[in-house]
Amino acid sequence: MPVVPTTSIFKDDILKGKVAFVTGGGSGICKGMAEALARHGAKVTIFSRTLSKLEAAAKEMRASTGGEIFAVAGDVRDPKQVQAAVDQHMAHYGRLDILVNGAAGNFLSLTQHLSFNAFRSVIEIDLIGTFNTTRVCFPHLKASKGSIINVTATLQFNGQVFQAHACAAKAGIDAMSLVWANEWGPLGIRSNCIAPGPIANTVGMAKLSPGDAEGDSVRIPIGRMGEIRDIEHATLYLASEAGSFVTGQTLVVDGGNWLQPSMANGYPEICAQELNMRAIMEAKL
Ligand code: COA
Repeated sequence: MPVVPTTSIFKDDILKGKVAFVTGGGSGICKGMAEALARHGAKVTIFSRTLSKLEAAAKEMRASTGGEIFAVAGDVRDPKQVQAAVDQHMAHYGRLDILVNGAAGNFLSLTQHLSFNAFRSVIEIDLIGTFNTTRVCFPHLKASKGSIINVTATLQFNGQVFQAHACAAKAGIDAMSLVWANEWGPLGIRSNCIAPGPIANTVGMAKLSPGDAEGDSVRIPIGRMGEIRDIEHATLYLASEAGSFVTGQTLVVDGGNWLQPSMANGYPEICAQELNMRAIMEAKL
């Protein structure tokens, strides 16, 4: 059974008058988040590295939502590029109410195989990119009493194998989000995280769980893979007035997946797939 569309739960205009800036919004989960914001009335800027991909995504999203989508290219790792993009966003729309920090990079690797540059790359994209974007957007979020949604993960909760780089980055984002909730709550800014579980048909799923998706879903308590729509629902809840008293939280949207036994929390005998992956990874040494 596919997850219901957001329009069957949320009114079309719940974000009317709001303006969003979505990093990583040209593809995957963050494209779904940007599309959901636009479908429910927000004007949206999508920001990532490749302009041609962004423009194609913006065209598609304008057609699917009837909304306004502005595409700006740049790298979250470079504060100057982020500043230039946010300046373009402000020149185009004149305000900013919702910041989605979604740009991320990841791959599987045992720690002993990670090059220094590989570790740094993921920290720079995920953690420093989230800081850069939020730091630049702060005055505009302060002016609008806006809302920040950081896309994190569950892998840092239990030290997921092959994920030292991403665990370090996502744990840092979780911590910054708490600080922002504390520091900026009195200014009217809310800061929350969404932690998606295994979401079907995404780059993350293909890269991080290259096995059999149907087999994976047997281990998920809710009994199915996630869909991008599941993350859209969470986004609308946090971005809209529905979430107006919610800050400093991580909304885990994973069907209970991270609660399941895994090699990372001491049950290697039931995790044949992870054992097999470990053998493949160790053979690389
Ligand atoms: N295993 C180990 N190291 C890897 C790797 C892998 N699968 N993929 C990349 N790296 C290393 C590279 O070898 C390089 O290190 P080196 O210079 O010591 O060789 C370093 O990571 C940077 O890679 P590079 O491709 O030069 O950088 P980039 O900035 O273009 O890419 C990544 C960043 C590595 C995170 C890349 O995977 C990316 O851009 N991903 C974006 C999309 C994505 O991952 N989405 C999934 C989200 S869950």
